[in-house]
Amino acid sequence: MALDERGKTREQLALEITTMQQRIDDLELKHIVRNGTERDFKNVERDLRERVKELNCLLSISKLREKPDMSIGETLQGIVDLIPGAWQYPAVTCARVVLTNLERKTANFRETQWKLTRSIVVQGEPVGHLEVCYLSRKPARDIGPFLNEEMSLLEAIAERIEKVFEQDRAEQKAREQQQQMVQLDKMVALGTLVSGVAHEINNPNNFVMLNTPVLREAYTSVVPIIEEYYADNGDFLMGGLPYSDLREKIFSLFDGILEGSRRINSIVRGLKGFARVDPAGYREAVDLNSVVESALVLVRNQITLSTSHFSLELAATLPPVKGNSQRLEQVIMNLVQNACEALPNRRQAVMVRTSSEGDYVVVQVQDEGCGIPADQLPRVMDPFYTSKRSTGGTGLGLSVSVGIVKDHGGTLSLASGIGEGTTATLRLPVLALAEDASEAAS
Ligand SMILES: Nc1ncnc2c1ncn2[C@@H]1O[C@H](COP(=O)(O)OP(=O)(O)OP(=O)(O)O)[C@@H](O)[C@H]1O
Ligand SMILES: [Mg+2]
Repeated sequence: MALDERGKTREQLALEITTMQQRIDDLELKHIVRNGTERDFKNVERDLRERVKELNCLLSISKLREKPDMSIGETLQGIVDLIPGAWQYPAVTCARVVLTNLERKTANFRETQWKLTRSIVVQGEPVGHLEVCYLSRKPARDIGPFLNEEMSLLEAIAERIEKVFEQDRAEQKAREQQQQMVQLDKMVALGTLVSGVAHEINNPNNFVMLNTPVLREAYTSVVPIIEEYYADNGDFLMGGLPYSDLREKIFSLFDGILEGSRRINSIVRGLKGFARVDPAGYREAVDLNSVVESALVLVRNQITLSTSHFSLELAATLPPVKGNSQRLEQVIMNLVQNACEALPNRRQAVMVRTSSEGDYVVVQVQDEGCGIPADQLPRVMDPFYTSKRSTGGTGLGLSVSVGIVKDHGGTLSLASGIGEGTTATLRLPVLALAEDASEAAS
């Protein structure tokens, strides 16, 4: 009586149960009117009763799976609770399902020597097992105290659990994709907002940046006159403050305004980079060694201040990549700046290396700095993520860099650990490969 109704629908199972029930009733009737073959009847009747129990169990599992809003844990609990009723001795039967990070069992579960087990395999990968135990010794049948039909039933139930697991995985994946879509939408909206804001800030800030030196110059030119007046007439108020105090500070006030304005300018540049929507402008053949060298000129000051162990290893020759050298310079600068900012003192080293690996040109920026905690590593490339808020970090350096690298068909990855330092690896396809890819895309 092998159970090969695994593919049957609920309706088919229900119909079969009703037919079985009728046959049992018939047998009981015949048993009463006939005599002589009592044992045969009893055996057939018992087998049929077992079969009804099994079919009922499968039917109930199907019903369970149709219930909306049940978590995988609830479904599995429902399934294991249905198992004892389908075995020969429900009162001493217990069951358990164990999946990668989930376990559900009947309240009376105890592992014993009278056990049937079936592994749960999803897409060729074992993810757990299902087991049924008797809590006390029972007469020997086909497999220990169990019937062959019970093993088949266990298999049928395990197959249903595999489907539940697979379905749950698919739903989880769909949910994740949905979340990524929402995140992407938000990013696009944020990009539009940011580019608008950046533009609005840039204009007034240009006035500040251009006019402050003019004012400083103007003030410098009248200082001798003011000083003469001060020498002749003593102290006086300037903008509500005594000139004797202000004369010391006034130039640092000008410098402060200018410094602040430069900072606004660099933030706005970062924001524009983040909101950049024009990946099509990359056409030139770029030598990454030159890109690295010119990026280092721009951050030389910061390197000198941060470390006395800076090293640069440039590959003797590098195949060109296809791209925009200024944008790539920006990426290298961001990486080197991060490396410098991570150093606790000047004794720790920063190393920059270029090399070619097959069809890719690789730039590595390695530091012996503080490292990134493992739980933060997946977040550091998110726009506006920064651990340097208090010292003026905007959290745009890496996210802008990733955007640029992606536009170049490359990848940027970080390997890091607390106290181990960080290695940023930039990988860009060589020119020929990039052209093949764009031809294939067009
Ligand atoms: N080499 C590194 N060592 C340690 N932490 C790093 C390193 N590079 C990046 N990080 C971490 O990643 C975060 C995000 O870096 P990102 O360059 O995007 O922004 P930021 O440096 O904080 O600000 P800015 O916009 O000025 O670059 C940093 O705040 C830091 O916590
Ligand atoms: Mg940075």
